[in-house]
Amino acid sequence: MKKITIAIDGFSSSGKSTMAKDLAKEIGYIYIDSGAMYRAVTLYCLQNKLIEGNKINEEELKKRIADIQINFKLDPSTMRPVTYLNGENVENEIRRMEVSSKVSFVSAIPFVRQAMVAQQQAMGKEKGIVMDGRDIGTVVFPDAELKIFVTASPETRAQRRYEELKAKGEEVDYEEILKNVKERDYIDQNRDVAPLRQADDAILLDNGTMSLEEQKQWLLEKVMSFEL
Ligand code: DC
Repeated sequence: MKKITIAIDGFSSSGKSTMAKDLAKEIGYIYIDSGAMYRAVTLYCLQNKLIEGNKINEEELKKRIADIQINFKLDPSTMRPVTYLNGENVENEIRRMEVSSKVSFVSAIPFVRQAMVAQQQAMGKEKGIVMDGRDIGTVVFPDAELKIFVTASPETRAQRRYEELKAKGEEVDYEEILKNVKERDYIDQNRDVAPLRQADDAILLDNGTMSLEEQKQWLLEKVMSFEL
Protein backbone atom coordinates (compact mmCIF):
# COMPACT_ATOMS: atom_id res chain seq x y z
CA MET A 1 0.00 0.00 0.00
CA LYS A 2 1.28 3.45 -0.89
CA LYS A 3 2.31 5.56 2.09
CA ILE A 4 2.83 9.29 2.06
CA THR A 5 4.13 11.96 4.43
CA ILE A 6 1.64 14.56 5.63
CA ALA A 7 2.94 17.85 7.04
CA ILE A 8 0.53 20.09 8.94
CA ASP A 9 1.93 23.47 9.95
CA GLY A 10 0.30 26.53 11.37
CA PHE A 11 -0.17 29.04 14.16
CA SER A 12 -0.40 28.01 17.80
CA SER A 13 -3.84 26.80 18.89
CA SER A 14 -5.08 26.68 15.31
CA GLY A 15 -6.39 23.19 16.02
CA LYS A 16 -3.75 21.52 13.89
CA SER A 17 -2.89 18.91 16.53
CA THR A 18 -6.48 17.73 16.90
CA MET A 19 -6.81 17.65 13.16
CA ALA A 20 -3.54 15.77 12.63
CA LYS A 21 -4.29 13.30 15.44
CA ASP A 22 -7.76 12.47 14.11
CA LEU A 23 -6.48 12.10 10.59
CA ALA A 24 -3.67 9.74 11.62
CA LYS A 25 -6.15 7.59 13.53
CA GLU A 26 -8.56 7.51 10.60
CA ILE A 27 -5.97 6.40 8.04
CA GLY A 28 -3.79 4.29 10.36
CA TYR A 29 -0.74 6.56 10.22
CA ILE A 30 1.71 7.46 12.99
CA TYR A 31 1.05 10.88 14.51
CA ILE A 32 3.87 13.06 15.82
CA ASP A 33 3.28 16.35 17.62
CA SER A 34 6.56 18.19 17.05
CA GLY A 35 5.46 21.05 19.32
CA ALA A 36 5.29 18.54 22.19
CA MET A 37 8.99 17.87 21.63
CA TYR A 38 9.91 21.55 22.01
CA ARG A 39 7.60 21.74 25.02
CA ALA A 40 9.36 18.72 26.57
CA VAL A 41 12.77 20.38 26.13
CA THR A 42 11.32 23.51 27.76
CA LEU A 43 10.01 21.46 30.68
CA TYR A 44 13.44 19.86 31.02
CA CYS A 45 14.97 23.37 31.24
CA LEU A 46 12.46 24.41 33.90
CA GLN A 47 12.97 21.23 35.93
CA ASN A 48 16.74 21.63 35.77
CA LYS A 49 16.78 25.37 36.43
CA LEU A 50 18.22 26.19 33.03
CA ILE A 51 15.72 29.05 32.55
CA GLU A 52 15.64 32.20 34.59
CA GLY A 53 13.04 34.69 33.46
CA ASN A 54 13.40 34.55 29.69
CA LYS A 55 17.10 33.76 29.85
CA ILE A 56 18.23 30.26 29.01
CA ASN A 57 21.51 28.74 30.10
CA GLU A 58 22.39 27.70 26.54
CA GLU A 59 25.87 26.50 27.37
CA GLU A 60 24.56 23.94 29.87
CA LEU A 61 21.61 22.97 27.68
CA LYS A 62 23.94 22.31 24.76
CA LYS A 63 25.99 19.91 26.87
CA ARG A 64 22.84 18.03 27.85
CA ILE A 65 20.80 18.12 24.64
CA ALA A 66 21.91 14.65 23.52
CA ASP A 67 20.66 13.22 26.84
CA ILE A 68 17.15 14.59 26.40
CA GLN A 69 15.13 11.66 25.08
CA ILE A 70 11.63 12.34 23.88
CA ASN A 71 9.25 9.68 22.67
CA PHE A 72 5.60 8.99 22.23
CA LYS A 73 3.57 6.00 23.37
CA LEU A 74 -0.05 5.26 22.65
CA ASP A 75 -2.33 5.37 25.69
CA PRO A 76 -4.32 2.15 25.23
CA SER A 77 -7.41 3.57 26.96
CA THR A 78 -7.71 6.66 24.73
CA MET A 79 -5.61 5.49 21.76
CA ARG A 80 -3.97 8.91 21.93
CA PRO A 81 -0.20 9.46 21.92
CA VAL A 82 1.39 10.48 25.21
CA THR A 83 4.68 12.41 25.42
CA TYR A 84 7.53 10.94 27.48
CA LEU A 85 10.59 12.88 28.60
CA ASN A 86 13.44 10.60 29.66
CA GLY A 87 10.97 7.83 30.45
CA GLU A 88 8.49 9.99 32.37
CA ASN A 89 4.96 10.78 31.20
CA VAL A 90 4.89 14.58 30.84
CA GLU A 91 1.80 14.94 28.63
CA ASN A 92 -0.12 17.15 31.07
CA GLU A 93 2.81 19.15 32.37
CA ILE A 94 3.99 20.28 28.94
CA ARG A 95 0.58 21.89 28.22
CA ARG A 96 0.69 24.19 31.26
CA MET A 97 1.00 27.96 30.91
CA GLU A 98 4.47 27.99 32.49
CA VAL A 99 5.78 25.89 29.61
CA SER A 100 3.71 27.76 26.98
CA SER A 101 5.18 31.07 28.04
CA LYS A 102 8.80 29.88 27.65
CA VAL A 103 8.66 27.46 24.75
CA SER A 104 9.15 30.04 21.99
CA PHE A 105 12.50 31.03 23.46
CA VAL A 106 13.71 27.43 23.73
CA SER A 107 12.49 26.50 20.25
CA ALA A 108 14.35 29.47 18.74
CA ILE A 109 17.75 28.04 19.76
CA PRO A 110 19.50 26.59 16.67
CA PHE A 111 21.08 23.52 18.35
CA VAL A 112 17.74 22.62 19.95
CA ARG A 113 16.06 22.73 16.54
CA GLN A 114 18.86 20.74 14.96
CA ALA A 115 18.47 17.97 17.56
CA MET A 116 14.67 17.86 17.27
CA VAL A 117 14.64 17.96 13.46
CA ALA A 118 17.06 15.01 13.35
CA GLN A 119 14.75 13.01 15.67
CA GLN A 120 11.69 14.00 13.62
CA GLN A 121 13.27 12.99 10.33
CA ALA A 122 14.24 9.62 11.82
CA MET A 123 10.62 9.10 12.96
CA GLY A 124 9.36 9.79 9.42
CA LYS A 125 11.85 7.68 7.49
CA GLU A 126 9.29 5.01 6.61
CA LYS A 127 6.57 7.54 5.64
CA GLY A 128 3.02 6.77 6.78
CA ILE A 129 3.26 9.70 9.17
CA VAL A 130 1.28 12.83 10.00
CA MET A 131 3.45 15.41 11.75
CA ASP A 132 2.31 18.81 12.89
CA GLY A 133 4.35 21.86 13.83
CA ARG A 134 5.76 25.08 12.38
CA ASP A 135 8.49 23.95 9.98
CA ILE A 136 7.42 20.46 8.97
CA GLY A 137 6.61 21.30 5.35
CA THR A 138 9.49 23.75 4.98
CA VAL A 139 12.40 22.15 6.88
CA VAL A 140 11.67 18.71 8.34
CA PHE A 141 9.92 17.12 5.33
CA PRO A 142 10.28 19.53 2.40
CA ASP A 143 9.35 16.64 0.09
CA ALA A 144 6.13 15.72 1.93
CA GLU A 145 3.43 14.73 -0.56
CA LEU A 146 0.71 16.65 1.29
CA LYS A 147 1.28 19.93 3.11
CA ILE A 148 -1.42 21.87 4.93
CA PHE A 149 -1.02 25.31 6.51
CA VAL A 150 -3.66 26.04 9.16
CA THR A 151 -4.71 29.42 10.45
CA ALA A 152 -7.51 31.27 12.32
CA SER A 153 -7.66 34.69 14.03
CA PRO A 154 -5.66 35.16 17.29
CA GLU A 155 -8.94 35.74 19.18
CA THR A 156 -10.45 32.47 17.96
CA ARG A 157 -7.29 30.58 18.85
CA ALA A 158 -7.03 32.19 22.31
CA GLN A 159 -10.65 31.26 23.02
CA ARG A 160 -9.92 27.64 22.09
CA ARG A 161 -6.91 27.45 24.37
CA TYR A 162 -8.85 29.17 27.16
CA GLU A 163 -11.58 26.54 27.00
CA GLU A 164 -9.05 23.71 26.78
CA LEU A 165 -7.14 24.84 29.89
CA LYS A 166 -10.31 25.63 31.84
CA ALA A 167 -11.63 22.15 31.11
CA LYS A 168 -8.43 20.79 32.65
CA GLY A 169 -9.09 22.83 35.79
CA GLU A 170 -6.27 25.36 35.28
CA GLU A 171 -6.75 28.93 36.55
CA VAL A 172 -6.77 30.93 33.33
CA ASP A 173 -7.27 34.46 32.13
CA TYR A 174 -8.44 35.01 28.51
CA GLU A 175 -6.50 38.26 28.06
CA GLU A 176 -3.29 36.61 29.27
CA ILE A 177 -3.78 33.74 26.83
CA LEU A 178 -4.50 36.13 23.95
CA LYS A 179 -1.30 38.00 24.79
CA ASN A 180 0.62 34.70 24.84
CA VAL A 181 -0.88 33.62 21.49
CA LYS A 182 0.09 36.93 19.83
CA GLU A 183 3.54 36.89 21.39
CA ARG A 184 4.18 33.36 20.15
CA ASP A 185 2.89 34.23 16.66
CA TYR A 186 5.39 37.06 16.53
CA ILE A 187 8.35 35.03 17.80
CA ASP A 188 7.48 32.00 15.64
CA GLN A 189 7.27 34.12 12.49
CA ASN A 190 10.27 36.30 13.15
CA ARG A 191 12.93 33.97 14.53
CA ASP A 192 16.10 33.49 12.50
CA VAL A 193 15.98 29.70 12.30
CA ALA A 194 13.06 27.97 10.57
CA PRO A 195 10.49 30.75 11.04
CA LEU A 196 6.83 29.84 10.69
CA ARG A 197 5.76 30.33 7.10
CA GLN A 198 3.52 28.63 4.59
CA ALA A 199 5.51 26.39 2.23
CA ASP A 200 5.03 27.37 -1.41
CA ASP A 201 3.31 24.06 -2.12
CA ALA A 202 1.14 23.97 1.03
CA ILE A 203 -2.65 24.22 0.92
CA LEU A 204 -4.06 26.99 3.15
CA LEU A 205 -6.85 26.13 5.58
CA ASP A 206 -8.53 28.94 7.56
CA ASN A 207 -10.65 26.99 10.03
CA GLY A 208 -12.00 29.97 12.01
CA THR A 209 -15.60 29.30 10.97
CA MET A 210 -15.38 25.57 10.34
CA SER A 211 -16.77 22.87 12.60
CA LEU A 212 -14.51 19.96 13.51
CA GLU A 213 -16.57 17.71 11.27
CA GLU A 214 -16.29 20.08 8.29
CA GLN A 215 -12.56 20.32 8.83
CA LYS A 216 -12.25 16.54 8.99
CA GLN A 217 -14.11 16.08 5.71
CA TRP A 218 -12.08 18.80 4.02
CA LEU A 219 -8.84 17.11 5.06
CA LEU A 220 -9.94 13.58 4.18
CA GLU A 221 -10.82 14.77 0.70
CA LYS A 222 -7.28 16.08 0.21
CA VAL A 223 -5.77 12.86 1.53
CA MET A 224 -7.97 10.60 -0.54
CA SER A 225 -6.76 12.24 -3.74
CA PHE A 226 -3.54 10.29 -3.13
CA GLU A 227 -5.34 6.92 -3.37
CA LEU A 228 -3.61 5.44 -0.31
O1 DC B 1 2.17 23.65 18.61
P1 DC B 1 2.58 24.05 20.01
O2 DC B 1 1.90 25.29 20.49
O3 DC B 1 2.45 22.94 20.99
O4 DC B 1 4.14 24.40 19.89
C1 DC B 1 4.87 24.82 20.98
C2 DC B 1 5.97 25.77 20.55
O5 DC B 1 6.99 25.05 19.87
C3 DC B 1 5.55 26.93 19.64
O6 DC B 1 5.64 28.15 20.33
C4 DC B 1 6.54 26.92 18.52
C5 DC B 1 7.42 25.75 18.72
N1 DC B 1 7.47 24.81 17.60
C6 DC B 1 8.46 25.00 16.67
O7 DC B 1 9.22 25.94 16.78
N2 DC B 1 8.59 24.12 15.65
C7 DC B 1 7.76 23.09 15.51
N3 DC B 1 7.92 22.24 14.49
C8 DC B 1 6.72 22.90 16.45
C9 DC B 1 6.59 23.79 17.49
